[in-house]
Amino acid sequence: MCGIIGYLGSRDATSILIDGLRRLEYRGYDSAGVAVLERTGVQSVVKRAARVETLVEALQERMPEGRLGIGHTRWATHGRPTQVNAHPHTDCRGRISVVHNGIIENFEELRAELRRAGHRFASDTDTEVVPHLIEEYYRGDFLAAVRQALARIRGAYALVMFCLDDPELLVGARLNAPLVVGLGEGEYFIASDIAALLPYTRKVLVLGEGEIAAVTPLGASVTALDGMPAPTRVLHVSWDTEQAERGGHPHFMLKEIMETPEAAANALRGRLDDQGRVHFAELELPDERLQGLAEVRLLGMGTSRHAAMVGEQLIEAWAGLPARAQDASEFRYRPALVGPDTLVVAVTQSGETADTIVALRQARQQESATVAVTNVVGSTIAREADGVIYLHSGPEIGVASTKTLVAHLVSLGLLALRLGELRGVADRRQGLVRELRELPALIRQVLDDGPRLAELARRYAGYRNFLFVGRGLGHPVALEGALKLKEISYLHAEGTSGGELKHGPIALLDRDTPVVAVCTEGPSWEKLLNNVHEVAVRGAPVLALVPRGERALADVATDVLELPRSGELGSAVLATVALQLFAYHVAVGLGRDVDRPRNLAKSVTVE
Ligand code: AGP
Repeated sequence: MCGIIGYLGSRDATSILIDGLRRLEYRGYDSAGVAVLERTGVQSVVKRAARVETLVEALQERMPEGRLGIGHTRWATHGRPTQVNAHPHTDCRGRISVVHNGIIENFEELRAELRRAGHRFASDTDTEVVPHLIEEYYRGDFLAAVRQALARIRGAYALVMFCLDDPELLVGARLNAPLVVGLGEGEYFIASDIAALLPYTRKVLVLGEGEIAAVTPLGASVTALDGMPAPTRVLHVSWDTEQAERGGHPHFMLKEIMETPEAAANALRGRLDDQGRVHFAELELPDERLQGLAEVRLLGMGTSRHAAMVGEQLIEAWAGLPARAQDASEFRYRPALVGPDTLVVAVTQSGETADTIVALRQARQQESATVAVTNVVGSTIAREADGVIYLHSGPEIGVASTKTLVAHLVSLGLLALRLGELRGVADRRQGLVRELRELPALIRQVLDDGPRLAELARRYAGYRNFLFVGRGLGHPVALEGALKLKEISYLHAEGTSGGELKHGPIALLDRDTPVVAVCTEGPSWEKLLNNVHEVAVRGAPVLALVPRGERALADVATDVLELPRSGELGSAVLATVALQLFAYHVAVGLGRDVDRPRNLAKSVTVE
């Protein structure tokens, strides 16, 4: 998730691009760059592998002077955050400049084809294929070449681009990534979000999926990929800057929960082929090494440890390989009984959690194969592990992990499938692949139930203690539901497995201690129903999360929240999202600072 901005008008483009990039920096901040068509007819491209202010210092040495330009602030997906990988990217002759947000799934295949045609690439990015592909098709009509190029691209993109030969044309295109056109007085902007445009205009044209905007001094026209005119939707925006950064939501946490379908789709994108086989571009461990594994350890902290616990169950069930999730901070103080036939998976959103870094280093000393599953390209853990699976979720600003947890669950599901594939475990495979592919749409259905979750949260926000209970994959979901609630609402919440309930936690229950029962589908469903009966007869209010249409708890639970039906992993993901929304609404109801809860940091970089 990067920030992009383009300008065409009569003012100084460079200053407008800098201002836009400052406003967009929250979308990505590992590198930044601009390309400006100068009055002299040449194009200046300036980039830095650093924050926007470092780019500004570089520009101040010589400000490019022009009226047309594009800018980008990057959150790396393919290719480390280096100057050469920073956007804009250009074609071989440096005449076409492009900035991009999204992931181009078939970039390796396109790059190989373009190389064979004589194109030379400077970066490791997926984006760089775009200017070269346009160059390949360019015969004097830039827009036509853009259309031909886009027809070859699979994946997600918001693109803004221009060509030196067409100094009065700025082009934007979108597919599965947001892009808006700002309509000013005799000037036009194209940006990844409204926050960048607010000082200049509040008249905004929202591009639809697969649409292209061609902006000239005479106006903006919108067409579909095939060139047919598309209906335009012009909005008047009344948001202030902060609201705009949050996409109109009151908190980043809510914005990020709403981005979960996209995060799940990004984690899947390009990784499942038509036969349902799994491909990880950056997982550089040879198949032979993965085939010879005797066990898998998954290490993480907090929410990432809960993701690791889900991964543990999936790897055992889907790949038939012994697996164990561990608290990374404990792993490092115990005898490291891992070796070359152990795969150690570091599960971490930030890639900078000190406990997980140290545990990973210890595993490397024991010559274990190591993989990082992380959101941050170029983070310490991504650099030090043998292989990486990136989440591709874009920055997560709220301290509470939300969309990245779901991306972790999806990615660990893919890893389990891949390990199963290498070990010849084929049963249920097609069903599991279908389950993963259906997830983004099912998550959307849970989000659509937001008002019901808000109402439930209002009813439960008056309690001071909560017990979350689940079995199978529902157990880590229950632990995470409790963690999310306590970290942002400061209410006491505990999670337990259904089996453990009678061994102690049940003593806590009375009519002032509600139980949140995560009744996900799975082999211990009947046992979990028994648990709900046990807690209900002790007078505890019960909020039960059940598959849609399930009536078994209708007369037992105080409240029942129905979730879309899916497989075991799918149900766990859907319950996770519902509990994030529940925690969010409880915390908002109590007036908590949900994006910056007390005593917590987004990334815990000390042990
Ligand atoms: C979860 O909401 C917290 N932000 C916290 O538990 C977090 O998951 C933990 O600190 C691990 O962070 P990481 O994923 O960046 O390693």
